[in-house]
Amino acid sequence: MVGGFLLRAQRSLKAHAEINSVALHAIGTNIEATLCDMATAAGKFMPRRDCDQIRSMRLRTREAVACGPKENRGSEKDTMMASVMRSSVQWVKHDFSGAYNRKWPHAYFRAHLALDYTIPDRAKPVFEKLFADYRRLRNKTELKIVDIGCSYGVNAALLRSNLDLDDLYAEYLGSSGSLSRRLDIEHRAFFHSCGLRDDIRFVGVDPSFRAVHYARNQGLLEGGIPADLEARDLTVKERCALADADIIISTGCVGYATERTFARVYKAAAASRPWVVVFAMHPFSYHEIATTLREFALETRLVDRFRQRQRRFSTTTERQAILTAMAELGIEDRLERTTGYVYASCYISAPPGEVLYGRTLISAAKSQ
Ligand SMILES: C[S@@+](CC[C@H](N)C(=O)[O-])C[C@H]1O[C@@H](n2cnc3c(N)ncnc32)[C@H](O)[C@@H]1O
Repeated sequence: MVGGFLLRAQRSLKAHAEINSVALHAIGTNIEATLCDMATAAGKFMPRRDCDQIRSMRLRTREAVACGPKENRGSEKDTMMASVMRSSVQWVKHDFSGAYNRKWPHAYFRAHLALDYTIPDRAKPVFEKLFADYRRLRNKTELKIVDIGCSYGVNAALLRSNLDLDDLYAEYLGSSGSLSRRLDIEHRAFFHSCGLRDDIRFVGVDPSFRAVHYARNQGLLEGGIPADLEARDLTVKERCALADADIIISTGCVGYATERTFARVYKAAAASRPWVVVFAMHPFSYHEIATTLREFALETRLVDRFRQRQRRFSTTTERQAILTAMAELGIEDRLERTTGYVYASCYISAPPGEVLYGRTLISAAKSQ
């Protein structure tokens, strides 16, 4: 069942403070069974490697209950709960990963169009508003944007041109689309003819190195970091590429990228005090990322009116699992229940006083 353990884990995440050892013991005993149930419900076979990983998470969770300094136990448990929760959602959510790291983006666009993936398009006007606010406040004209989970440079293509996502779907997938053939020269010519604006430069971060290479090759990204920053730190050269960033953005990537990636990226860019503007699909929690950004003296706000459609639910099982998790986390699900689409919440982190809309999720730490 999707219920059982997950419901307990989500309730604990929601409370996010005192997770008692009874709940953690329940995680320890039920985690394997529940994740396997969820995988089965989603019609997936869970490979041995993942079962082993889950088993090791169970052991570490038990250790967190039993050992370690008392004052650290709460946060360690929270982190593990979040990680368990992420694994659970990743298991039921639709898997696009086969299309992420191809030489050409056509499979990516085909797979995403099939579920009416729309978040980069819906996010565009919100990003544009925030870019304008940032320019005004910081008195800047040229912006350096870091896109976490940049893929084939979709956000860069949209934000540096007048194109919308339907244009891209049509150009890549239509039989007479300008990008339908796999010819570098034609792709470069197309983006050149769009007159990509130069006052917004992009650096992309994504482990899908072929996608990053494509985006750089077409001139969509000025810099690319083809790395999984969950697994390793930045090199000196990569850190330099992130310096002087103005705004860090992300769509469709929270869940893959966690507080580890955001901490590494922010640390490299911290001297310029960039804003962080992220759309996180329901029901992924942003709490851990916001807490990490607090260490850099940023406050994080959730702006309800900027919530946007991400994509259609892939199956009734996925819909049910996501709605169950949302209910348990107290995320309002009126739109999901009515429209058949899953939505993404918009989070903005900035130095205190720089962004004034939305409600505060995490206040800034007093000193850095
Ligand atoms: C659904 S796509 C979103 C791409 C793009 N932002 C968009 O909205 O069209 C998810 C992207 O996250 C990337 N990704 C997966 N793991 C990641 C990680 N650890 N760090 C950064 N990006 C990651 C994938 O390679 C993929 O390009």
